[in-house]
Amino acid sequence: MPSSPEIVSPFLAQTGQTVSERAFGLKLESIVQRYPGATHAAVDGISLDINAGELVALLGPSGCGKTTLLRIIAGFVAQTEGRIIVGDTAIDALPPNKREVGVVFQNYALFPHMDALENVAYGLACRGAPKEQQVERAQEMLELVQMAHLAKRLPREMSGGQQQRVALARALAVKPRILLLDEPFAALDKSLRLDMQIEVKRIQRLAGITCLMVTHDQEEAQSMADRVAVINQGRLEQYASPNEIYDFPQTLFVNQFVGNANSLKGTVASKTDGQLGTVLVAGVSLPARLVSRALKVGDSVWVCIRPEQLELRAATEVIERASIKGVLSLSLPQGPQVIQEVKLGDGSAIKVAQARASNQTMLSLGTEVFAQLRDGSFCQAYSSA
Ligand SMILES: Nc1ncnc2c1ncn2[C@@H]1O[C@H](COP(=O)(O)OP(=O)(O)O)[C@@H](O)[C@H]1O
Ligand SMILES: [Mg+2]
Repeated sequence: MPSSPEIVSPFLAQTGQTVSERAFGLKLESIVQRYPGATHAAVDGISLDINAGELVALLGPSGCGKTTLLRIIAGFVAQTEGRIIVGDTAIDALPPNKREVGVVFQNYALFPHMDALENVAYGLACRGAPKEQQVERAQEMLELVQMAHLAKRLPREMSGGQQQRVALARALAVKPRILLLDEPFAALDKSLRLDMQIEVKRIQRLAGITCLMVTHDQEEAQSMADRVAVINQGRLEQYASPNEIYDFPQTLFVNQFVGNANSLKGTVASKTDGQLGTVLVAGVSLPARLVSRALKVGDSVWVCIRPEQLELRAATEVIERASIKGVLSLSLPQGPQVIQEVKLGDGSAIKVAQARASNQTMLSLGTEVFAQLRDGSFCQAYSSA
């Protein structure tokens, strides 16, 4: 949730305003973008309501229209259809510099011949702010991003993370109503990425600013955002909290994109009240949530099971629940967990995640194993019609 109203951010302190007074909501109404000559709309009717002070992640694969949507909000691309509303004012007719939207581009786009302070002050200079006010404000922003000690550095003398902080300070310096970030961590080493994610979220909270962040990395979206908007081919597939997106993906696409899912062909075997039932998959009957509401017994479905919802049993062990039989074919250690690949009789394979710290002895490759759903887990079934 947005930071509590009592928190007064450093650059709001002068005005005495609190976060809740300064933050603006952002509303997209049926935005469509058709580039000339393109066969498909790059953005195909996206509506999104972002609360004041909220951090929303726009999550989707490369080419799904994320950057286009950001450029439309910033005013660099005029949308074919739809409206953009900030607070309660439509901003469609305004040029970029009148929209009060701050953008951090994917490559940071710092001016190479200007030092950190000059970069941050640039927007204020363009707005004709007096020189000393420019410097004061730029220093304040560099302090916010913990770069005050490097104010005289040129971009080429800074690391990727430092350049990103400066780009963020530059975007915030002009007190935008909305902050847009395009793949802000893509250029950073993995080890630095987590630190910068924490840092950006801290700054966003402190500034109390409404933020739309583009990413193709589902973990990043999950860990940073208050809500996640999953986009596929220019369309919004689901807009919900990270937990909701992960636990109750509304479409097969969302399920596969956010969860590294095992997707298997199956059929609906039974249906009880609501969305629960069982599916027949790989020769066994498993409890399932029938996501597509119209599903009925006998329908063909895609059955999705997350690797961490499964656990392996050796053929010699007691099998508690209905299990998928296969042969352990590959073992991929991944830091805290190990992904085990199990080949099924029909030649397809499923992935099973095992905690690395587990003291159970690792099964050896080539042995017959059973993959059972963990207690209380159920798979998700989507219509394959
Ligand atoms: N200026 C442009 N002219 C024509 N097509 C474009 C332009 N910019 C992007 N596209 C196309 O629009 C689609 C969405 O692109 P983009 O918004 O950059 O996606 P993303 O940021 O999600 O990777 C792609 O098919 C891309 O090729
Ligand atoms: Mg992009």
